Amino acid sequence: MTPSTTVALRATGLSKNFHGFLAVNAVDLEVAAGGVHALVGPNGAGKTTLFNLLSGFLQPSTGTITVFGEDVTGLQPEQIAHKGVARSFQITSLFENLNPREHVELALQSRTTQGRKFWRSEKLLGRFTDRAGELLDLVGLAELAEKPAGLLAYGQKRALEMALVMALDPKIMLLDEPTAGMGIEDVHRTIELVKKIADGRTVVFVDHNMHVVGSLADRVTVLQQGRILAEGTYQEVRSDPRVITAYLGEASNA
Ligand SMILES: Nc1ncnc2c1ncn2[C@@H]1O[C@H](COP(=O)(O)OP(=O)(O)OP(=O)(O)O)[C@@H](O)[C@H]1O
Ligand SMILES: [Mg+2]
Repeated sequence: MTPSTTVALRATGLSKNFHGFLAVNAVDLEVAAGGVHALVGPNGAGKTTLFNLLSGFLQPSTGTITVFGEDVTGLQPEQIAHKGVARSFQITSLFENLNPREHVELALQSRTTQGRKFWRSEKLLGRFTDRAGELLDLVGLAELAEKPAGLLAYGQKRALEMALVMALDPKIMLLDEPTAGMGIEDVHRTIELVKKIADGRTVVFVDHNMHVVGSLADRVTVLQQGRILAEGTYQEVRSDPRVITAYLGEASNA
């Protein structure tokens, strides 16, 4: 990273100790503003734990986190969200009975002070209908706006989650396995969607699909057993013998 590059997100000496087990171990990470940065590594490498630390869902055992130079270590998830960091989850977590429009309206509402009140007011939510429509259009769900989320296909649920992250209008988006469990068509759609939403933002994503990583990432960090094993462009890391060994080791254990 050249000295003139703005760092959107920085972790310094970041560790998470679960009862003596270091799931994240002294990680130093710099994510350039405007970049699309992939975090890869075998199952259990610590990727989701690192996301949980960066988004305040877990508190680090040691180390610091800055967002555009501001120290956010120790802040709660909603405080970090307020600094412009939003994340998606590896596992879908939608309300089965609410439709996509209602989901997005609630997410939009959560950005306002009323967001702290959990009950829904139809009148208040109505203020967000237009923006909700735009976001659903962006993720390709405009036609399904009124269908209960429980009835959506898997890829559609993941698209809705992307709209919920976008509703927070984050400067930095953390996407945990946005293409997990998807068929090839949904994978392609998601790649195009992430490209679209990465415009003017910083994106950090975890994905096991190397086609996705190669298509999207301008920088790749490889984690293994909580530590950074390698970092560079996709071309650099994929030809790194240590990375190949880490992945082959996982395959032979499977
Ligand atoms: N709350 C927790 N308490 C104890 N151990 C945990 C906790 N959360 C995660 N771990 C452990 O930390 C390690 C890293 O888990 P993590 O979920 O971060 O891996 P990951 O890289 O996201 O894996 P995957 O690719 O399977 O999603 C694993 O060994 C996991 O069992
Ligand atoms: Mg994970």
